[in-house]
Amino acid sequence: MDSSYISRQQREEMHNHRGAVVWFTGLSGAGKTTLARAIELRLFQAGCQVVLLDGDSLRQGLCAGLGFSPEDRSENIRRAGEVSRLFANTGTIVLAAFISPSRADRARVRAMQADGDFIEAWCMCPLETCEQRDVKGLYRRARAGEVAQFTGVSAPYEAPLAPELTLDTGGDNVAACVEQVLTELHSRGVLF
Ligand code: PPS
Ligand code: ADP
Ligand code: MG
Repeated sequence: MDSSYISRQQREEMHNHRGAVVWFTGLSGAGKTTLARAIELRLFQAGCQVVLLDGDSLRQGLCAGLGFSPEDRSENIRRAGEVSRLFANTGTIVLAAFISPSRADRARVRAMQADGDFIEAWCMCPLETCEQRDVKGLYRRARAGEVAQFTGVSAPYEAPLAPELTLDTGGDNVAACVEQVLTELHSRGVLF
């Protein structure tokens, strides 16, 4: 934040926590939005400066016009990563929920962030479970050939190799996963 009179450290001291980016990645229906929303609420109630960036919302504005080709997904993730960096540098805790299926794209987002800011949280859930949930009916439509390049069906998902957090969103309940993330934020010194 070179053009500001206020340092990141001053902002963090004011907020009583550090800035960070928790990046939820996983298949559609794995639980990214559910967890990001629940954690946002918990952090807000604790007085934290927090923001939720969700693929479904960004695609209505900042990323409108981008589709689901590998190139468009890369650009979508690049923009989300840049916005995350801007927020984290104001001492905000960013909860970013994007399928972000490409390892290379996630690595690029990680590299954009200040050292120690990026917490990759893999929402690990079997495809069959996601498909059974079919929260938005998209799997049914993808199987019927009505949605092209659908992640897990007709487009790839590259699971993280060394995420900071692996959340068993197919086995554990929401509350347990929320606690796991909050514990990680404490142990990394994001929350004091
Ligand atoms: S990506 O891959 O990171 O750029 O995707 P993201 O910005 O997170 O957007 C994912 C949401 O878009 C809806 N949707 C699709 N997802 C995957 N593949 C295809 N083809 C597709 N078409 C629409 C869907 O609601 C995704 O949200 P989630 O929350 O993951 O279900
Ligand atoms: P995504 O944003 O990844 O597409 P959603 O959050 O929209 O996923 O949907 C996940 C669904 O799975 C929700 O209906 C949620 O209640 C359910 N669910 C069950 N267990 C979990 C868990 N441990 N974490 C997150 N969601 C879970
Ligand atoms: Mg979602």
